[in-house]
Amino acid sequence: SNRIMLGPLVAAIDQGTSSTRFLVFNAKTAELLSHHQVEIKQSFPKEGWVEEDPKEILQSVYECMDRTCEKMTQLNIDISNIKAVGVTNQRETTLVWDKETGEPLYNAIVWLDLRTQSTVERLINKTPGRNKNHLKHKTGLPISTYFSAVKLRWLMDNVEKVHEAVLSHRAMFGTVDSWLIWSLTGGKKGGVHCTDVTNASRTMLFNIHTMDWDPELCKYFDIPMEILPKVRSSSEIYGLMKSGPLTGVPISGCLGDQSAALVGQMCFKDGQAKNTYGTGCFLLKNVGTKVFNRHIASKICFLKFNLHCFFFLLLLLFFFHILKPVMSDHGLLTTVAYKLGRDKPACYALEGSVAIAGAVVPWLKNNLGIIQTSTELEQLAADVGTSYGCYFVPAFSGLYAPYWEPSARGIICGLTQFTNRSHLAFAALEAVCFQTREILDAMNQDSGIHLSQLQVDGGMTSNRLLMQLQADILCIPVVKPSMPETTALGAAMAAGAAEGVSVWSLNPEDLTEVTSEKFEPQINPEESELRYARWKKAVQRAMNWET
Ligand code: G3P
Repeated sequence: SNRIMLGPLVAAIDQGTSSTRFLVFNAKTAELLSHHQVEIKQSFPKEGWVEEDPKEILQSVYECMDRTCEKMTQLNIDISNIKAVGVTNQRETTLVWDKETGEPLYNAIVWLDLRTQSTVERLINKTPGRNKNHLKHKTGLPISTYFSAVKLRWLMDNVEKVHEAVLSHRAMFGTVDSWLIWSLTGGKKGGVHCTDVTNASRTMLFNIHTMDWDPELCKYFDIPMEILPKVRSSSEIYGLMKSGPLTGVPISGCLGDQSAALVGQMCFKDGQAKNTYGTGCFLLKNVGTKVFNRHIASKICFLKFNLHCFFFLLLLLFFFHILKPVMSDHGLLTTVAYKLGRDKPACYALEGSVAIAGAVVPWLKNNLGIIQTSTELEQLAADVGTSYGCYFVPAFSGLYAPYWEPSARGIICGLTQFTNRSHLAFAALEAVCFQTREILDAMNQDSGIHLSQLQVDGGMTSNRLLMQLQADILCIPVVKPSMPETTALGAAMAAGAAEGVSVWSLNPEDLTEVTSEKFEPQINPEESELRYARWKKAVQRAMNWET
């Protein structure tokens, strides 16, 4: 049969919280050629606990890879054209395995998990002034249940097998990217134990200035550095596939999923931003390489009347602050956006993280039983077109940005006898939009520049009602690319551009234009503000629900 000639292809493994995908792209046109997706089971063994099975995660990757390759063969596309594979993953989720047996020593503790709440409270209480931002100057992150270090500490303290493996130097720690790359490159028979700078920056053990593991942070959490993976850039050859249909193909891209989406949305310029609606919702804005600390600069502007004084201070600031990435004063994280090559500079991002977005769908389905599918959610909400004054704050895992309050819990308020499941469905969608508004406001306040439109992606963006509602609540247009798999695209781009692969050009002139759809705000800003003000009141109740 005639084989279709397409030139070089690049694949991506996208291992998210709710599902795993394998996708193949044309390196010249960025066209998506084939893909396969498998759901991942989450278990909730105790209240607030969220776990996944590391072996199931790995198995799902092999299954997606096999099925996609079969589909490609059916399409007459030669899989030997796949020149590289990129990995992108749910971030922070924490695993420990035995390097001699290759066996995971416990389930993966998912980023949403709250079991470390008391540890976090204890750590914050110990800091001067009960300051949750005590480690932010090094990590860009507040002390929270969200990041890997506290989860790893819990594993070492509570799982005998982990404790023993650490003592006998057989333990390996990793986020999902490390677990996959180690397993795919040979596992116990010489697998490569590495991670990339973006994933490392979510552990709380990584110094975002030196771009390496930080001995002081490791000491703070009492974590032996020998169990940590080697930190590499996001685009370089880490190793070769050792089994499956793509044996011998290099794995040469690695990015946490939110960083990958930023790359896939082509947000390479300072100031460009994207919001991804997955299990959670993550708004990232590229803030460039280590930049002049604009915040401090704005504070000394009152000295302009004395030019000498002004220039002297500017010089001082130059030395002390020019080499610092932007930090937030409004509850956002500073995180590594990407480093696309060993010798390339690291770019940083400000991030607003929302724990629960798409995760409201399975909750409404499995816990309340009021819908069967996500399409039904959109339909129900569209039937009424209003929440009728009902507000739903899904603080199931506490509240993330901009509050960072692990003790917050979900509430549904404003109910009357008139309220029905359609209003509740609408309130659930509106909650996703309000949470995005909160992180967008924080982002605008931090930079002093207001985003004029929002680029979006992720599973929930297929919900047109949600997209319209988002534009209405933000009072700015929402722009959605026509190819929704931007996370995987970003990982494929990083893999294809790596030195020694070089089948994908990241030069701005070579990048394909993204076609998109725009949702314009349709309600008046006063109405939007009124609803948002009520949402804020509801959030205050969710924060103080115990008191
Ligand atoms: O930080 C968690 C994030 O990486 C998870 O992304 O798409 O699985 O919700 P997602």
